Amino acid sequence: MNEVTTIDRTQREYSDAVKKALARKPQLYINGEWVDSSGGATIDVEDPSSGKVISSFVEATDKDVDRAIAAARTAFDDRRWRDMPPVAREKVMHKIADLIEDHADELAELEAIDVGKPKGMASVVDVPGAAAHFRYMAGWAGKIGGETQAPYAMPGGMMFGYTLKEPVGVCAQIVPWNFPLLMACLKLAPVLASGCTSVLKPAEQTSLTALRLADLIHEAGVPAGVINIITGYGHTVGDRMVKSPSVDKVAFTGSTEIGKLINRNATDTLKHVTLELGGKSPVVVMPDVDVASTAPGVAGAIFFNSGQVCVAGSRLYAHKSVFDKVVEGMAETAPFWAPRPSLDPEGHMGPLVSKEQHERVLGYIEAGKRDGASVLMGGDVPSNDGGYYVNPTILTDVNPQMSVVREEIFGPVVVAQRFEDLDEVVKEANDTQYGLAAGVWTKDVSAAHKIAARLQAGTVWVNCHAMIDPALPFGGYKESGIGHEQGRLGLEAYLETKSVLMKL
Ligand code: NAI
Ligand code: MG
Repeated sequence: MNEVTTIDRTQREYSDAVKKALARKPQLYINGEWVDSSGGATIDVEDPSSGKVISSFVEATDKDVDRAIAAARTAFDDRRWRDMPPVAREKVMHKIADLIEDHADELAELEAIDVGKPKGMASVVDVPGAAAHFRYMAGWAGKIGGETQAPYAMPGGMMFGYTLKEPVGVCAQIVPWNFPLLMACLKLAPVLASGCTSVLKPAEQTSLTALRLADLIHEAGVPAGVINIITGYGHTVGDRMVKSPSVDKVAFTGSTEIGKLINRNATDTLKHVTLELGGKSPVVVMPDVDVASTAPGVAGAIFFNSGQVCVAGSRLYAHKSVFDKVVEGMAETAPFWAPRPSLDPEGHMGPLVSKEQHERVLGYIEAGKRDGASVLMGGDVPSNDGGYYVNPTILTDVNPQMSVVREEIFGPVVVAQRFEDLDEVVKEANDTQYGLAAGVWTKDVSAAHKIAARLQAGTVWVNCHAMIDPALPFGGYKESGIGHEQGRLGLEAYLETKSVLMKL
């Protein structure tokens, strides 16, 4: 890519509200209070736009984890939340959404400096999305009901039967670093709607907004112990949450590797498990498209959030008749996606979240080159001030054996391939361990429906990408997950069904 030499990659000054949030004492939110850890260890917060340490939070101990789980257990068992009138619970959930909206600017900035995403993007995607999950699920709080059977005759008397939908219990919720606030709210909203309780752990790379969310949840009037937010590493804190005999359900979003481990670890106590895992989502561009509007669309499918999106459109399949024009059109968007510090108001793409992720993505690009891929755009690091930037990258001349085609890179890297006919592209698109999402770009309605029906993916987008609606279920086929979040199915993942039979 032609380096845009005029970009100043010095991070801007933080607002006073954010400085205040960064200066707070590292504590955990347990049983409705901010409490000190039983140990003294902390984890640094880094701003990936500069690589500088800007704050720290608690590295929770085993004792802290057990304390949080005990609080959630007691709050569930004494029914302080589930027995509240549904409209009262609904009102609290809307209040959380109101408070998120009231603090939108601060939350967007915290997310921006923690993840590295442009503040402008966090303001239109992450923060409104976070509030929307509470609003959508709030509507369910008063609409959870079972079924009744008309009384019927059995030998010995009349029987009457009905079902009750009940909250599953204490939930261990573990979220990743790419959409920290959004993911936390997506997890907590069905907990509150169903009457469960939770211990939630944000990712060790990005814990700022989850901690701030705890303040808002508290202010909204969620009773003590119903939601507990603790911080720390996955292999310690997360692992203890997953294995705890006092936890009834695990909800995880993150890598497929850790999702498999969590599923195994949850087996001894037969917990309910929902997993939202990785992807390598194909984007199919049919020969009839309007290239001028499709090329920026498919570029956005991969470069949005620096490609750190579980549904990123990371495998492009363009029909051979439009392939050259589509990739050229994508390359023309390079100045738009040129990485900038997260508080640069001109920015559409920021750095990657961490040094580890930076090394991982650059490692994939090198592997692709070694395997014979050509770099049509990017593939390198722009000049910067210590942040974890990678230029938006398009690789061509790839084949299905290469690691860049098979594995989730989780960075701004797309592999572009040509196809000739529909059967061929469906087969190639499905040739992956993953099945999270897929995209189709075409004006041909019949082709769109045929392809959508044949792609093995939990979500298929037509002429758009990464559109998420809290009302629509979201889940993965194959190794992209188990179960669903969002929508009615997302609520049901937090409910048990009980049959009651009565002899009249
Ligand atoms: P990860 O899967 O290790 O981390 C996600 C969450 O799981 C974090 O909160 C972490 O603390 C926790 N965790 C880690 N090990 C755990 C364990 N043994 N038990 C319980 N919880 C545990 O993801 P990581 O290492 O941050 O990123 C590695 C790769 O994973 C990325 O490059 C990307 O490919 C993928 N990923 C996918 C995401 C998605 O949305 N599908 C989100 C984040 C990462
Ligand atoms: Mg990990």
